[in-house]
Parts: sequence; structure tokens; C-alpha cells
Amino acid sequence: MTDPASPIWDVLRSSWRASAMRTMAELRVADHLADGPLALAELAARCEAHAPSLGRLMRTMASVGLVETVGEDRYGLTESGALLRSDAPFSLRSGVLFNTDPTVAPALEGLTSTVRSGRSWWVENKGVLYDYMSGDPELLALFNDYMTNRAVPMAAGVAERYDFSEVRTLVDVGGGRGHITAAILRANPRMRATLFELEQVLPAARTAFESWGLADRCELVSGDFFSAVPAGADAYLLGSVVHNWDDADALRILGTVRAAVPGHGRVLLVEMVLPDDDEPHFGKDLDIRMMSIFGQGRERSRSEYTMLLEKAGLAMTGVTALPFNASLIEARPV
Ligand SMILES: C[S@@+](CC[C@H](N)C(=O)[O-])C[C@H]1O[C@@H](n2cnc3c(N)ncnc32)[C@H](O)[C@@H]1O
Repeated sequence: MTDPASPIWDVLRSSWRASAMRTMAELRVADHLADGPLALAELAARCEAHAPSLGRLMRTMASVGLVETVGEDRYGLTESGALLRSDAPFSLRSGVLFNTDPTVAPALEGLTSTVRSGRSWWVENKGVLYDYMSGDPELLALFNDYMTNRAVPMAAGVAERYDFSEVRTLVDVGGGRGHITAAILRANPRMRATLFELEQVLPAARTAFESWGLADRCELVSGDFFSAVPAGADAYLLGSVVHNWDDADALRILGTVRAAVPGHGRVLLVEMVLPDDDEPHFGKDLDIRMMSIFGQGRERSRSEYTMLLEKAGLAMTGVTALPFNASLIEARPV
């Protein structure tokens, strides 16, 4: 029989584990273990840490599956732990550091106030995240790195699982550094794209497209998706954009996209689509983060997306499952 107290302790200990994982990322434990297992004393010396305390951290991280004990007081990286290496192909180190960042973490501390008032404590005290980050280049770089890396498996899934054969031109609305577009362009050599983003994000996007050798196939355009987006493309991609906003703002964004998409065109959303029942889903936990940081930002169920799209003059025509709990929602103008 399950102990009725277990869900409570499980939730509490996940926050302790998150702090331990942040410390592991800050100390670059995964980088130090990249070439193979190390004795605790050596690892502590490389991390500039107190060996007995680091040993306790390792014991917990081994229980979570990020490191493994490979001999007495000797630790190695697991496949999951290797994702915390800063040079991993889609490193989650920046995701760990951003989500536990001391500037951003108070958003969750203000959650009770947010739930009481319906207004994000963080937005009321610090402003909208994207405005706030424009004055904090280090946090902006960390966020963009996190967005890029966490989306690599999703981007590969979009390129592999969706049929782009009829799409010659694509606008990636709020596309970040353009990692999803890059994956699509690589898989579809005849396609051209436009990355539409805030001015502050474009320099990093430009560098990224140049490094991928795709700069000649993607135009970078700055602007505000509440005002207008480039018109006439075959497809409009909005990756994790709609979930940042409440229904009214999401409708304003979808409205500018609807005004730009031609009759034959399509709109593609990459989002978590929540189950309507009580089953656990990563998106339900992410929704708490959305509420605390973005206030009105929210994860939505399939029926909520259907209604939202309908109000914007779009009909949902398909949902494709993507890696990491995400989905690709296809909609067409009606
Ligand atoms: C959650 S990120 C998603 C990035 C990328 N699409 C992905 O899937 O990883 C949302 C993006 O929307 C952009 N954004 C926010 N407000 C915007 C606006 N008013 N106009 C254009 N882009 C905006 C941000 O700069 C950010 O890169």
C-alpha cells in the first residue's frame, strides 16, 4: 500500500534535489568528470570544494541517476549526468542554472501572492521577463542558451515527423536563435526561412546561422509580434510562444499571424498539450513556472488550443507528438 504521506515528501525532496543539481552545475562536476571517473578527493580539488560535503552531494546525485559510484569514494558520469557537461551537444546545464537562478527563483517564492491576486508577483516587481532580460545580458544569454539546448530534441522531432514537402517558405515567429528553423532547413534543402524576433536576440541568431552555414537561407527580421509579422509565407512556426501569454495576448499574436498567412498556408505551434485528466505531465509542472514568471502565461489542453485557434480564425488540423512531452499542432486558416 502506498504511504499517503509519500506525495508530500516526494514534492518536497524534488526541490532539495533541484538545489543539489544546481550546485553540481555551478561546480561543473560534469565537466570535471568528462574524461572518466575520479576519486572524490581529486574531484573536490578540481571543483574547489570541501571533499566530505561534495561526497554527500554525489551520494544524492547518484541516487537520482546523474552520477554513479564506481568504487570506494570514486564517481563517474551517467548518460543523464553527461547532459550537464557544458560542451554536451544539447547541454541542459544552462537550463538548470536559469531555472534555479537567484534572480528568477523568487518568482516561485511569490507564487502564493500570484495565486491570491491572479497577477504574477514577479511581473509586478520586475516587469515582463523579456523586458527585464534586455537589461541583464548575462541572464539573457543564459536564457537563450537554455531555450536553444532544450529545444534540440524537439527541433529534430519537428524536422523528422512533420511533412514540409509543400512548404517553400517559413516564418519562425519568436524563433529565438532559430534552432528549430535550422533543423527544418537542414532536412528540407529547398526551403527558405525568416526568423522574426526582438532586436536584442538577433545578434546571437546571426552568429548561430553563420556557424551552421545556413545564413544565406534565413533572413533575420526584427519586430514585435503584437504589431505585425512578415506576410505571405507557406508556414508560420510559433515554438513555445503562445504559452508565454494569456488568451487575450495569445489571440493578439495569433491575430497578426492570421493576418499574414495566405489561404493555402498553415500555422504550426510547438507546445506542451496537457491531458484533460489527472495524469502527471511535465507541462502541468511547467505551468506553475509559467504562472509565476509570466503571470498570464499558461500551458493549455488540446480543447483549449482548439478554441483559441478557432477564435483566431484558424482550425486545428493535426497534432503530432514530439520528443520531451511536446506536440506540434497544425492549424489552417478558415
Ligand atoms: C519561450 S521563447 C521560444 C523561443 C523558440 N521559439 C523556441 O521554441 O525555443 C519565446 C521567444 O519569443 C520572443 N519574443 C518575446 N516577445 C516578442 C515580441 N513582442 N515580438 C517578437 N518576439 C518576441 C522572445 O525573444 C523569445 O525568444
